[in-house]
Amino acid sequence: SIPSRVKLVDVGPRDGLQNEKSPVPAEIKIGLVHRLQDAGLKNIEVTSYVSPKWVPQMADNHEVMSGIARQAGIVYSVLTPNLKGYEAAVLDKPDEIVVFGSASEAFSQKNINCSIAESIERFAPVVEAARAAGIHVRGAMSCTVGCPYEGEIAPERVAYLAGLMKGIGVQHVGVADTIGVGTPRKVQRAMEATLQHYGIDDVSGHFHDTYGQALANTLATLEMGVWQYDTSVAGLGGCPYAKGATGNVATEDVVYMLQGMGIDTGIDLDKLIDAGAYISDFLVRKPNSRAANALITK
Ligand code: HMG
Ligand code: MG
Repeated sequence: SIPSRVKLVDVGPRDGLQNEKSPVPAEIKIGLVHRLQDAGLKNIEVTSYVSPKWVPQMADNHEVMSGIARQAGIVYSVLTPNLKGYEAAVLDKPDEIVVFGSASEAFSQKNINCSIAESIERFAPVVEAARAAGIHVRGAMSCTVGCPYEGEIAPERVAYLAGLMKGIGVQHVGVADTIGVGTPRKVQRAMEATLQHYGIDDVSGHFHDTYGQALANTLATLEMGVWQYDTSVAGLGGCPYAKGATGNVATEDVVYMLQGMGIDTGIDLDKLIDAGAYISDFLVRKPNSRAANALITK
């Protein structure tokens, strides 16, 4: 049963810009968030509260969060890997926080400098504090299909991580194909493994498009009833700890597909394309979205 309505979280300002070689000023990031909200995005992943030595591109988290002219009804989410990050984040009043773990041990070490088990120990007090403060908690699960260091990842390992996330009170988990190696059946198996611990309303897909499979993977999981996805305007992005990985599937491409299927997202595609053009112009490149480029030149 394909859902009639889909919720998209635009992760462009965070996942999209965390890996840019040239620094993107806070003012431009704020301009991007404003354009996304004008385009009808109700969920925007704005920034992360991580070590500025590890990810200098997100060092302006406070400036960006406090510079947004917030609109009612929009969920502004931020990444927090530990209590130090949470304590800084909470001052900027996020509506949702995201802890981020990995189904692969090696990626956990490279990305957050600790084992999977240690990461869960670090997340637990963050989740507890956020929930006590009434802040919704999502968990990102990296490398659910493949890992840049370990290769293929078995669904059992995804189920294991999902169970650990559930055990510490994470309310929703995102099944991430960090390096975009997944194909539809494999991604469905990772999603099925997650559904052993979470209901269909508490899971989402987060598919990077490195091998051009992300739209197919989106459709494959839509057919399972999944109705929440992380996407990135203009296909921005990549992960600093996953060499060669490209951005998430472009929000424009997903919106184009869903509109064509008669599925409602509440997003205005023309305004979304303008948002993508704004940031792409700044970065002096074409949007990494087939639909956007087709519609721009039309
Ligand atoms: P660590 O070095 O093990 O941390 O890093 P530590 O606790 O030993 O502290 C070391 C230093 O970092 C100290 O500073 C701390 O204060 C500072 P010093 O005394 O040396 O000056 N520190 C912090 N500073 C700011 N904010 C914090 C923080 N924590 C410690 N929260 C840590 C561990 C997790 C901090 C580090 O590994 C890190 O920041 N990693 C960043 C990872 C990251 O941002 N990756 C990209 C996002 S995840 C992603 O993109 C995947 C996703 O999209 C899904 C998918 O596609 O797979 C979500
Ligand atoms: Mg990602």
